[in-house]
Amino acid sequence: MPDLYCVFGNPISHSKSPFIHAAFARETGEALTYEARLAPIDGFAAAVAAFVGEGGRGANVTVPFKEEAFRLCHTLTPRAARAGAVNTLSFVDGRILGDNTDGAGLVTDIVGNLGFSPAGRRILLLGAGGAARGVIEPLLTTGPAALVVANRSVDKASLLAEAFADLAALDACSFADLAGKSFDLVVNATSASLGGEALPLPAGIFAEGALAYDMMYGRGDTPFLAQARAQGAARCADGLGMLVGQAAEAFFVWRGRRPACAPVMAALRAALAG
Ligand code: ATR
Repeated sequence: MPDLYCVFGNPISHSKSPFIHAAFARETGEALTYEARLAPIDGFAAAVAAFVGEGGRGANVTVPFKEEAFRLCHTLTPRAARAGAVNTLSFVDGRILGDNTDGAGLVTDIVGNLGFSPAGRRILLLGAGGAARGVIEPLLTTGPAALVVANRSVDKASLLAEAFADLAALDACSFADLAGKSFDLVVNATSASLGGEALPLPAGIFAEGALAYDMMYGRGDTPFLAQARAQGAARCADGLGMLVGQAAEAFFVWRGRRPACAPVMAALRAALAG
């Protein structure tokens, strides 16, 4: 019997994780099956328990359960503890181990796939919710000269800066406060794109040669990337590579094998365009 894995979310039918992990399993020859499971909004813990009862070995967790998954775990990796959220569960001897591979997926995409080194550069992180929190520590490990967190509600950005103060001195500010400042890497971790809304970003925030990165993805430019291009960002990338990167890191956590990301990214990109 192949080992059983799944992704929990609500909604979940749109999830590309089963496609991605099936491709990884084929490529590496690992014997596993990976399903999408819809968990009721008030029934995540019960869904996990039922899955473990069926012999499930591990699971990914997506919206809106990452914080609840964090609370459910018996053991957390340091990066999951920092993120305050879990996207990768492993079930071992009746215990639930929690990890968070989102930030690693982002950094792998930016450094490995896009060939952009944030070392010594200025990074701007837009947003201060769960998505932003999950990528701060991995971004800091790349050695940037500065990391500024800008958010619509400045108090949330300040709380985030305080939470990471032992690692680095982060600046927290509003979007308007960005006037006159420029950055080499601008990462959008807000959910503004979902509502099709543009962010009130002052002109001039993209330094020469800057990379604009949206953690969202879709067909063509996301609203943030369209805005970034119009404001002079030299390079633009959406979050498809991060999606595949976090999956590859989860696959490594479970199976100890690192699958190739490029063929899966190409297949997903083609499907988006079609
Ligand atoms: P996630 O888990 O995706 O991070 P979240 O925790 O709800 O979701 O956080 C959403 C983020 O997107 C927040 O930083 C939010 O800003 P506020 O803290 O001010 O609410 C940001 N956001 C959502 N819609 C936005 C919009 N239209 N303009 C600017 N920021 C927006």
